[in-house]
Amino acid sequence: MQNVIEVTKDLYYLGGNDRRLALFESAFPIPRGVSYNSYLLKDEKTVLFDTVDSAVCEVFLENLAYALGGRKLDYLVVHHMEPDHSASFFRVIETYPDVMVITNQKVAMMLKNYFPFSGKNVRLIREGDSLNVGKRNICFVFAPMVHWPEVMMSFIPENGVLFSADAFGTFGALGGSIFEDELPFERDFLDDARRYYFNIVGKYGAQVQNVLKKAAGLPIQTICPLHGPVWRRAEDIAWYLKKYDIWSKYEPEERGAVVFYASVYGHTQNAAEILGAELAKRGVPVKLYDVSVTHVSECLSEAFRYSHLVFASTTYNNGIFIHMENFLSDLKAHGMKNRKYSLIENGSWSPQAGGLMEKCISEWKGMEKLGDTVTVLSSVKEETRNQLEALAASIAEDYQNA
Ligand SMILES: Cc1cc2nc3c(=O)[nH]c(=O)nc-3n(C[C@H](O)[C@H](O)[C@H](O)COP(=O)(O)O)c2cc1C
Ligand SMILES: [Fe+2]
Ligand SMILES: [Fe+2]
Repeated sequence: MQNVIEVTKDLYYLGGNDRRLALFESAFPIPRGVSYNSYLLKDEKTVLFDTVDSAVCEVFLENLAYALGGRKLDYLVVHHMEPDHSASFFRVIETYPDVMVITNQKVAMMLKNYFPFSGKNVRLIREGDSLNVGKRNICFVFAPMVHWPEVMMSFIPENGVLFSADAFGTFGALGGSIFEDELPFERDFLDDARRYYFNIVGKYGAQVQNVLKKAAGLPIQTICPLHGPVWRRAEDIAWYLKKYDIWSKYEPEERGAVVFYASVYGHTQNAAEILGAELAKRGVPVKLYDVSVTHVSECLSEAFRYSHLVFASTTYNNGIFIHMENFLSDLKAHGMKNRKYSLIENGSWSPQAGGLMEKCISEWKGMEKLGDTVTVLSSVKEETRNQLEALAASIAEDYQNA
């Protein structure tokens, strides 16, 4: 049965939710599910903005038929070819064979690679082009690498609606209201939104900055992303744009320390806990994560969130412990930079994790090491505790002075 929701005059939400998928993109746990959003505009022409993942294709097609109410589908705008949005493309084409696909050259090429699609009934647009659909115009804004090279957005100047593709999206299924201003977004979605941002598009901060510059020139009243809630309250849109600005500049969103540790038998953890307590004693907000337990996508998001990072790892077969090594390579891949960091290593016969972590992290831009690497020889002793206290003092001093 259809579940169509009116977004604003003549604009309808046709998306659906998946709460069963364990790993989004086979990589990111989504315990709160995810929504796949699609929108239909009914002006003198009818315009479908993107389709959905195959998981919710059937209800989406029902929604589409219902929302059309017997009218024909004139246009299908494809902003992004990733299958979480375009998997149902061909089903739409089969159901509405006369629909004109409105998209760019890169999307058109991918459409032929993904589907047995003839390529007929495609109108190619370029950056800055617009399409009149009756009382409204649709203007196209290219957003390469937010999240794939073919990505574009579209904007309707007459009502200020921005279709933002993956940008401003979030993990977390919708249920009940689809509007951010009717949800406790900061409480229930912000952590997921941050994790979504840093893991999905975080690598492309410069490209996100370009889009933010383009967005700044548009009188945006509503943002319709491809995942998560629709944004329509001006102060909330400004707040979220500011978050994106901070995130895409790789600036810490909050001042505070996070200690990421990897420990086999608990002694490195013990050192991390002592450092945590010493930081708290000195007034530094601090969190601890066991990188072997907390998913790397969450550790990554928390690392980008805070200003002071501590990495504590056992030495493992002359290397860094496997989960810490994986975490560091993920941070590198996502362009981690501009943070203060400190190191703790452990080893029972030849501690090497500290030097190896430093070699890796010192190659990232703008990373500044605070304090000396604390070396734990198997377990924490009095002198190790003194070194941990000294490290806490160095971090606290920097935290307080900056
Ligand atoms: C499989 C394995 C390999 C290890 N390899 C090394 C090593 O190459 N060099 C070293 O000094 N310690 C090595 N260790 C010892 C660890 O660093 C040891 O876990 C640590 O000293 C105790 O800290 P933990 O309680 O946090 O695990 C190894 C331990 C394990 C289980
Ligand atoms: Fe995407
Ligand atoms: Fe997506």
